[in-house]
Amino acid sequence: MKVSFHGHSVVKIETGGKVILIDPFINGNENCDLNANEVRADVILLTHGHNDHVGDTVSIAKRNDALVVAPNELAVYLSFKGLNTHPMHIGGSHTFDFGTVKFTQAFHGSSYVEEDNQNIVYTGMPGGILFKAEGKTVYHAGDTGLFSDLKLIGQLNDIDLAFLPIGDNFTMGPEDAVLAAEWIQAKQVVPIHYNTFPVIEQDPESFVSQLKPGVGKIMNPGDAIEL
Ligand code: NI
Ligand code: MN
Repeated sequence: MKVSFHGHSVVKIETGGKVILIDPFINGNENCDLNANEVRADVILLTHGHNDHVGDTVSIAKRNDALVVAPNELAVYLSFKGLNTHPMHIGGSHTFDFGTVKFTQAFHGSSYVEEDNQNIVYTGMPGGILFKAEGKTVYHAGDTGLFSDLKLIGQLNDIDLAFLPIGDNFTMGPEDAVLAAEWIQAKQVVPIHYNTFPVIEQDPESFVSQLKPGVGKIMNPGDAIEL
């Protein structure tokens, strides 16, 4: 399994010949190295409905005829846009031909802003995603504040690689993310959701230096890890 990071919360997983994109916010994300008009995706996984996570989902999914897996209300909203969707919800898991997806809780909000008509659409509860394939487990925490059930997620899962937000303001900041990393007991932890906007500027080196030796890893846009 190859897992790459592409700025903000964008993660790409390649497994079994399939390409899975998580939260493909490309246009408007200056830290992203992908091109929304060219990127391949068989599947798009969405943690929640905020625009900096749904991003270019509609255009990418239409061009690739990709399956979009998202919390129910968000999946329904995107099905109204003509996308092929699979609705799920927190606590539920489903095994697809590309791997197993389980939605975890995240303490955050979830809505989609339609800028043109100043409309805000409710898109259900936000989540995190546990993805399992090839005997490996990847955890994308989505946008969340610290919550103590992260310990439970760590107890119930043998997480090989975790993506945790450190940006503060909208999500956990670095101090809380250090605790989160301890609780989920992941073998590798990559900070995300920072330095995209001035309000979420953080020093990832400082974050990584506070984790157990060898656990923290800073990924620059385009960097990949083989699991
Ligand atoms: Ni958000
Ligand atoms: Mn966000």
